[in-house]
Amino acid sequence: MKFSITTAIDYPNGMPHLGHAYEKIVADVYARWYRFLGYEVYFLTGTDENGQNLVKTAEKMGISPKAMVDQNVLHFKDLCSKLNISYDEYIRTSEQRHHDATHHFWKILESKGDIYFSKYQGLYCTNCEAYYTELQAPDRKCPEHHRPLDEVEEEGYFFKTSQYQSWVIETIKGNPNFVMSEFSRKEILSRLESEPMRDLSITRPNKGWGIPVPSKPEYVIYTWFDALINYYTASEPKKFWPNDVHVIGRDILWFHAVIWPMMLHAAGLPLPQQINVHGMVLAADGKKMSKSLNNGVDPFEVIKLVPVDSFRYYILRAIPSHSNGAFVLDDLLKRHQSELGNDYGNLLMRVVKLARKRSGDAAPKPEGIKLHFNFDSLIAEVKDLMTKREHHRALDRIWQEVNVVNGYINDSAPWAIKEDLVKFNEVIYNGLYGIDVVSQLLAPFIPETSAKALASLGLRPGTFDQAPKNYTLFDPPVLFPRIEPAPPSPSS
Ligand code: ME8
Repeated sequence: MKFSITTAIDYPNGMPHLGHAYEKIVADVYARWYRFLGYEVYFLTGTDENGQNLVKTAEKMGISPKAMVDQNVLHFKDLCSKLNISYDEYIRTSEQRHHDATHHFWKILESKGDIYFSKYQGLYCTNCEAYYTELQAPDRKCPEHHRPLDEVEEEGYFFKTSQYQSWVIETIKGNPNFVMSEFSRKEILSRLESEPMRDLSITRPNKGWGIPVPSKPEYVIYTWFDALINYYTASEPKKFWPNDVHVIGRDILWFHAVIWPMMLHAAGLPLPQQINVHGMVLAADGKKMSKSLNNGVDPFEVIKLVPVDSFRYYILRAIPSHSNGAFVLDDLLKRHQSELGNDYGNLLMRVVKLARKRSGDAAPKPEGIKLHFNFDSLIAEVKDLMTKREHHRALDRIWQEVNVVNGYINDSAPWAIKEDLVKFNEVIYNGLYGIDVVSQLLAPFIPETSAKALASLGLRPGTFDQAPKNYTLFDPPVLFPRIEPAPPSPSS
């Protein structure tokens, strides 16, 4: 049982932003989920370091592209570590192993006649590092950046994408789970069926940065062409090619669902199983976060304010798995307080404290206890939602169960059972068993908290085990400390 998952590789031309944080958390949940089910997991992430845009940013900073990426990559890695992103491998496309793999790939395609030298004229967006057709940009403005496109004419190498257009359409149509979700699948098919594709220009003049073309070093390989190969570079030697899931944002769907499969097909390599497309994290005003609108949120600042798991929980639950969603700090704080603190944190606190007060560390034993909960359908539903990549609904479903356990404790009121020790033990044991199962299911989403909760029952996180067990109780920590409201700013 093997499972491999990747994120997109980020452009390190500044600090990582909230969208980067979100994507890594989403991929991390699936990596942890499959480990939890006992799979051998390979989780890959990294940075895309060969683009021409990086050169421009470095020039503005007055440093070399190499110095800039080396500096920024530290922040990307730091964010991963602060967010508990459990990646197994971090690839930087400036590494030699990636240059070698890209050359290997290039040579296969060239030897098969899928790469040729010619001239190209088209409308180009330097931010996207991509050409647009008149149909995609009727006003000659970039559909992503809304800025006028440059009319560019250049000589270089081309990949024969045009000859694989019907093949890719059939592939997407024939594999309903290849592009997840249905919305993205329809979107990509409608674009593919709207006009014939032109061959893709896959080189740029060499200005001293990027991966040189093997036999013509006056050109470098187009950054998207090399970036996609990262998945293969880093997974194949570890025997994890083809990957099971590429997690990406919808702005880069075309490259992953169309260009990448074509490259692999042309090279005679198997395709990844799935492209899982998440939505974009928007600002609280529902607009795209941008410097000019000053509506951005810095993930480093957020996790100074709230525990990492509150951030993970909020972003995973509040942003629907496959659509855009707004990040609203006030909502995060509310969920921290009410759902995490009151529903879950207090449940653990109440049950374990009460049990310890009456019977010390030794919890009631499972023998002879009438089990109140049967978690089979919960587990089946959560598994099904995770397979459908509906992690926000899976988390919703687990949370319903947190409340069911809470409701059971409230209704049974063990604190009011004075004489009937058998009854008291039954309620407490069932409460502990409920906490055990929901905490385990929460482990992929809020790993640090789940481990703390399980530790209070004398358990350690591992692969999923729904069996009722013997618990040894420890004083529970406050899982989600109250966050005092920030003092009003002088101007408000
Ligand atoms: O596109 N919300 O890099 P990148 C959610 N290097 N996700 C977002 C987002 C937002 N506001 N903004 C960006 C690149 N992302 C290429 C990828 S892969 C072979 C090469 C997501 O740093 C975006 O959709 O611009 C992408 O999946 C990832 O962050 C990296 O974006």
